[in-house]
Amino acid sequence: MEVKTSLLDNMIGVGDMVLLEPLTEDSFIENLRNRFDHNEIYTYIGSVVISMNPYRSLPIFTPEKVEEYRNRNFYELSPHIYALADEAYRSLRDQDKDQCILITGESGAGKTEASKLVMSYVAAVCGKGQEVNKVKEQLLQSNPVLEAFGNAKTVRNDNSSRFGKYMDIEFDFKGDPVGGVISNYLLEKSRVVKQPRGERNFHIFYQLLSGASDDTLRKLKLDRDFSKYNYLSLDSANVNGLDDAANFRTVRNAMQIVGFMEDEVQSVLELVAAVLKLGNIEFKPESRSNGYDESRVKDKNDLKEMCELLGIEQSVLERAFSYRTVEAKLEKVSTTLNVSQAYYARDALAKNLYSRLFSWLVTRINESIKAQSKTRHKVMGVLDIYGFEIFEDNSFEQFIINYCNEKLQQIFIELTLREEQEEYIREDIEWTNIEYFNNAVICDLIENNQNGILAMLDEECLRPGTVTDITFLDKLNTVCAEHQHFESRLSKNSKFLTDHSLPHSCFRIQHYAGKVLYRVEGFMDKNNDLLYRDLSQAMYKANHKLIKQLFPEGNPAKVNLKRPPTAGFQFKHSVGTLMRNLQTKNPNYIRCVKPNDKKAPRIFTDSLVRHQVAYLGLMENVRVRRAGYAYRQAYEPCLERYKMLCKQTWPHWKGPTREGVEVLMADLQVSTEEFAYGNSKIFIRNPRTLFSLEEKRRGCLENLAALIQKIYRGWKCRTHFLLLKRSQVVVAAWYRRYAQQKKYTQIKSATIMVQSYSRGWKARKILRELKHQKRCEEAATTIAAYWHGTQARVELRRLKYVAASTRAVALIWAYWQGTKARRELRRLKEEARNKHAVSVIWAGWQGTKARRELKRLKKEARRRHAVAVIWAYWLGLKVRREYRKFFRANAGRKIYSFIMQRLMQKYFLGLKRDLPSMSPIGGSWPTRPYRFLDTAHTELRSIFHHWRCKKYRSRFTDERKAVFEEKLQASEIFKDKKALYPSSVGQPFRGDYLEISKNPKYQKLSSAMDEKVLLADMVNKINRANGKGTARIFLLTKNNFVLADQKTGQVKASVPLPDLASISVSTQNDGFFALKLKEGSAGATKGDFLLSSEHLIEIITKLRRTGATAVNHNHLDIDISDEFLVQFKQDKVCVKFVQGAPKNGNGASCKRKNNRLLEVSVPSTA
Ligand SMILES: Nc1ncnc2c1ncn2[C@@H]1O[C@H](COP(=O)(O)OP(=O)(O)OP(=O)(O)O)[C@@H](O)[C@H]1O
Ligand SMILES: [Mg+2]
Repeated sequence: MEVKTSLLDNMIGVGDMVLLEPLTEDSFIENLRNRFDHNEIYTYIGSVVISMNPYRSLPIFTPEKVEEYRNRNFYELSPHIYALADEAYRSLRDQDKDQCILITGESGAGKTEASKLVMSYVAAVCGKGQEVNKVKEQLLQSNPVLEAFGNAKTVRNDNSSRFGKYMDIEFDFKGDPVGGVISNYLLEKSRVVKQPRGERNFHIFYQLLSGASDDTLRKLKLDRDFSKYNYLSLDSANVNGLDDAANFRTVRNAMQIVGFMEDEVQSVLELVAAVLKLGNIEFKPESRSNGYDESRVKDKNDLKEMCELLGIEQSVLERAFSYRTVEAKLEKVSTTLNVSQAYYARDALAKNLYSRLFSWLVTRINESIKAQSKTRHKVMGVLDIYGFEIFEDNSFEQFIINYCNEKLQQIFIELTLREEQEEYIREDIEWTNIEYFNNAVICDLIENNQNGILAMLDEECLRPGTVTDITFLDKLNTVCAEHQHFESRLSKNSKFLTDHSLPHSCFRIQHYAGKVLYRVEGFMDKNNDLLYRDLSQAMYKANHKLIKQLFPEGNPAKVNLKRPPTAGFQFKHSVGTLMRNLQTKNPNYIRCVKPNDKKAPRIFTDSLVRHQVAYLGLMENVRVRRAGYAYRQAYEPCLERYKMLCKQTWPHWKGPTREGVEVLMADLQVSTEEFAYGNSKIFIRNPRTLFSLEEKRRGCLENLAALIQKIYRGWKCRTHFLLLKRSQVVVAAWYRRYAQQKKYTQIKSATIMVQSYSRGWKARKILRELKHQKRCEEAATTIAAYWHGTQARVELRRLKYVAASTRAVALIWAYWQGTKARRELRRLKEEARNKHAVSVIWAGWQGTKARRELKRLKKEARRRHAVAVIWAYWLGLKVRREYRKFFRANAGRKIYSFIMQRLMQKYFLGLKRDLPSMSPIGGSWPTRPYRFLDTAHTELRSIFHHWRCKKYRSRFTDERKAVFEEKLQASEIFKDKKALYPSSVGQPFRGDYLEISKNPKYQKLSSAMDEKVLLADMVNKINRANGKGTARIFLLTKNNFVLADQKTGQVKASVPLPDLASISVSTQNDGFFALKLKEGSAGATKGDFLLSSEHLIEIITKLRRTGATAVNHNHLDIDISDEFLVQFKQDKVCVKFVQGAPKNGNGASCKRKNNRLLEVSVPSTA
């Protein structure tokens, strides 16, 4: 919700002088002082702003302040220049009314600063955009340029504007600035050549010398030292707080922004330099023959340099300083100038040069800032003009300035009254005539075309004959003697004859702001403002673009014999134009007041302020404003502000606001003479009424505040109380809960205590019993352990003994075997060398077998013993375990046993799950999971293996059993003895390879066999003569073995098995075997058989089994050796097996080496 504020809120003193009560000059000054002391530098008189110069920077011009005052009503906030600027800008933008802001006040009162504040405020609140910003920047930057050339330090102000300035800022329909026009009034050009004590020339001279680069100064032929220049006053060349060098840079920058070209800037600086040089030109008299003195330039150096700067021929200028040409009709008369005339001419030139340069600058700035489009623009004019001046010594300038202020006062009164009147008409309020002083009569005294002072001055200037300032005063004394505002000692008005405050050479005017005494000296000269034609022509001849432009009258082609208009005339004319211009606009006034003469902050000099209040006509202003109704306010804010004073309007008024105000006023019983109802505003005649309303409002607000406070406090207390109550309930509930909990805990712990004592007692009782029981059991266990230990040791001793005796037996056996073997060897040596080795090996093998058996037995004994020990320990453990569960101390062990059980269970279950294949040859066995299970694991593996072997065996049929028995026998015979054996292990013994009974080819042979054929195979019978083999069918029956022709099936030999003495085979991987027959047997007539077969192992095994049965369980000897004898028909031949080169396939070959030797070459398997 927006809070409506008012100027009346928190006022220091009275914010609007219209409300001052009582209204006297003293109370007026006191109010200003009071506000000034509280840093309130702005005070209103209605819509007029009085601005006191604070002489220090106050934090009231910040961007935040701009925002605060933006779009707010004039009386809504405390008085501020921004409020005025905002009001003016908004009525320009929204109501299409051209505005002018008139800033007046004496020198140093803050007019220029105020105008800059207004401009910067408008720049801040108006539209934005690249183009608009550029225009704003140019308008704002015109100020530093004009200030540099038009301002100077004076005793009253360090930055005093020495010209009047009126600037029209033009806006488009949206309220965005599009350009501007500056008008300047009466530059104080006399300052160029002479400055009063304690004052300076225009800033630009000092800025140029301080701030320009050495190079620039060299080009301008200048020296940085101020003292080198006559026109520069030295006593106050340096001003505190003024940085000329920095300002020079600012000015150059501003000129660039405004749009000055580089060469233009250069030309301007050349002119400034030329003025300085001009001041240095000095003259000396030179006597002429006619007795008159003629002036001559003393030192021509400065003249030369100046001429070089401006491109003027030196001789032309030099002549212009010595002669003056007067043209009358067609005649030209040349007169010489004396020294003082030459100085006058020099100074006149300098003043003209500078003032024309200043006017050119204004024109040039206008060119840059003028609005581009030709359409009509809304205009806001800002007038920063010199204020009323009353010095001890007032001259032509003061006269002109005061005339200007008189005009402004007139327009001010006119416009204020007009505005007041218009408002009354607008609001339908009866018009009451306002008494005020109209200064039109003073304006008339000055500007009247017939007998006005200015007209008299012009007349006197133009009059032929001897004219002086005194003749001018005489004229005034005659013409204006009767005027009530004109005073002169010698006027015809006799009442001043004895007035000694009025010197003879002076006249006095009673201005609206007070009496001012003018000294007539210099009036004529200043009004004439003469520049000798020779000089203007010399200037025109200059080879310098700008100079030529400044002195157009110097053009010989345009010689104008008419006198140029006088300064007074020109000023009157431009003031007239200005007044007409202002009258078309809506005026806004800023009245600047200077608080002290010292340019110091916080000092308020009563007399000085009183003087300004008087000449600014501020009291008059207030009186005019208060003449009808002192205060007015629109109905809505009025109702809003005072509605709390009446029950009907508080807190909300439903009807029209005017009626609300009427109800309010009636309720408050304000006397009807005290106010009037306008169409949109209420008019209050007397400030007293307003203040009584304000007083009532304040009281009411206090009551309202108290009420609000009361209700708020009540609400706050109640809320607090309710909160406390709620909290108390919660706290109580929690406390009760806590107390009950605590009681319960106590009871519980007591119960537990009692329980624990009772349990403890019971437990101790049980413990005692259990301890006793345990001790008994421990004793039993110890006894059992000792007994088991003894048993074990006895067993160990026995086993040791058995082992020792077994070892002795084995040793004896071995010795015996050795002896037997040696004996046998000796026997064999005698009988046959080749049998010796067999015996030795046999003996060795027997020994090995015995040792192995012994080892196995030992191992078994140890295992049995260990089992017994473990069993004993296990029993002990079981007993201990049985009782351990009663004791808590055994928890660890229990846990251990549980873990062990669990591990064992897991282990067994895992084992069950991962049991390896049931094949007896399957070598896989799960890995041992724990080290402690190592022995059990190995044991289990062996148990499992035995079991699966048993299982495997139990599935055998009799035939298969026989086959395995055969295989077992083959293993006994050949394992580790013959290299061929391993390859035969995997091949099943089939026996009848040729399927004799089924094959018709062998039908005859089959029928010849009266017994069951146990084996039928193809063999090679080795021929002794060449070692080559002949294929034969080999048949084995229960009692015989038969060799038959492979093709015919004819039996070649049939040998009863009992005739078979032994079989010889090699140790190697060949299929050769010799069937040796017993000497003297029937079959032995044909000799032994040397055969070779692929199924050697099977044939020999079967031969041995069958032979064994056939020969009544006598062993059939099988000789395994690489060299053996074979008894052929006639003689014995040695068959020797040698390792041959490796070959693919079974390629053992037999070769006859000599009559007694057959060599079988067996390819090595490696
Ligand atoms: N609002 C302000 N805040 C701070 N200082 C100010 C303010 N107004 C004026 N001044 C000070 O007062 C000095 C004089 O002000 P300013 O130049 O505006 O006076 P002026 O009325 O224009 O005088 P003149 O008629 O000589 O030109 C300024 O240089 C500045 O130091
Ligand atoms: Mg100024």
